[in-house]
Amino acid sequence: MLDLKTYAPPRITPLPFIAYTKHFTRAIGVAAGESDDAFDADALVAEYGSPLFVVSERRLRADFRRFLDAFSDPNVDTRVAYSVKTNYLPAVCAIVRSEGAWAEVVSGMEYDLARSLGFGPHEIVFNGPHKTRAELERALGEGALVNVDHFAELDAVEQIAATLARPARIGLRVSFHFGAMPWTKFGFSDDNGDSQRALERIARNPRLRLEMLHNHCGTFVLVHSLYATAADRLVALAKRARALGLAPRMVDFGGGYPSSNVLRPEYDLAGGSLREGDFWSPYAREICSRLGKAKDLFGGRPTLVLEPGRAVVDACTQLLCSVVATKSIDRSEDAVILDAGVNLVPTACYYDHRVSRAAGSAGASYQRHRPVSVFGPLCMQSDRLRESATLPALRTGDLVRISHVGAYCHTMSMQFIQTRPATVLIGPEGPELIRRRETWRDVFRLDELPSRLRGDGCSF
Ligand SMILES: Cc1ncc(COP(=O)(O)O)c(C=O)c1O
Repeated sequence: MLDLKTYAPPRITPLPFIAYTKHFTRAIGVAAGESDDAFDADALVAEYGSPLFVVSERRLRADFRRFLDAFSDPNVDTRVAYSVKTNYLPAVCAIVRSEGAWAEVVSGMEYDLARSLGFGPHEIVFNGPHKTRAELERALGEGALVNVDHFAELDAVEQIAATLARPARIGLRVSFHFGAMPWTKFGFSDDNGDSQRALERIARNPRLRLEMLHNHCGTFVLVHSLYATAADRLVALAKRARALGLAPRMVDFGGGYPSSNVLRPEYDLAGGSLREGDFWSPYAREICSRLGKAKDLFGGRPTLVLEPGRAVVDACTQLLCSVVATKSIDRSEDAVILDAGVNLVPTACYYDHRVSRAAGSAGASYQRHRPVSVFGPLCMQSDRLRESATLPALRTGDLVRISHVGAYCHTMSMQFIQTRPATVLIGPEGPELIRRRETWRDVFRLDELPSRLRGDGCSF
């Protein structure tokens, strides 16, 4: 007897279409690692609306610790002064504070926020090219460290220091001309002698206590040797400071360390770059080895201060948003329109944020993928989150995830045309609302309409 099996007709399952060009492979291949927090995206959006920012506390803490570990070295005492402007959601700042971070602030608004969250004055580094007289008085009076940026500020700091009971705690921010896009706007130029003139003035004033030398050399710096140059320059500066009788013990290298985000090709190294594993360690080695060799200049083991922004907060946040429409453009290009665009993700001008379907039918990954332009809701052609994102077929109402939007998206988001969405933190006990959704009333809360302009029917 023949053992006949039941006939099953053959099935053809299309595999994802993968275009191996330098632009498309990365859109498919990056393991974002943000989705291992268990939460129901559909349920969250049903409760808090779309779009919706979702912050992973687990990922934020893990990235903070990884960063601190990478820069921990027996030669130095390492401190992370989190760059508050990168993401000043109070919950985010409170989480990094609970990990032991100091706060790096660049305005009175950020200073007040940091103090209200419990950062002590000694845990605040005050940077930036514009600090008002009142802000300087408060910070210096409370004992925060102010990194002096220019001679006009040094004038003000000297005047305020003359009124204080204790010497004012200051640092000197310097700039060097190096790299393709040198950050020369900030601090005293170390190339034209201004840094030396500032040191000499500080050395003559017993009301000033120079505690820190500071340089911030750029942002998303892909070439770690830039920090080697910065370290050499700061060590040379420390030598000159010591010769003048000054004794700074802290060296601050600012921020600029890259995250695991993906740069647009025009900002990336030729051929693209990937950051995997322990990618901050080469930066740490350049800095720590040089400071270790120069420790006598600092009267012993120096304090290394780092001000990371995107390195710590980029990857912990995703934006859930909805497909509003699908289109075909110029016969050749597919497009989707989402309810979130560059108003919420301004970083799309230099990042290729990973875009993926957040939830959907089983088997979605077997659908044919194709390059799609991803547009936002604004009335501007330039409101495009991605060119040629490789996506499965999307339908109106589908939920989409934009990854790695934790840095500079909340703080630089716009109320242009659209209100801003809610933000939910996925904490150890599940989702918690940390910013409620804006209403049109929130946007216009500060406006006044003179009574003579109130016409019939006006209820503003
Ligand atoms: C002085 C200073 N510190 C820290 C940062 C944070 O930079 P990033 O987000 O690139 O780490 C910046 C950003 O511009 C900065 O200007």
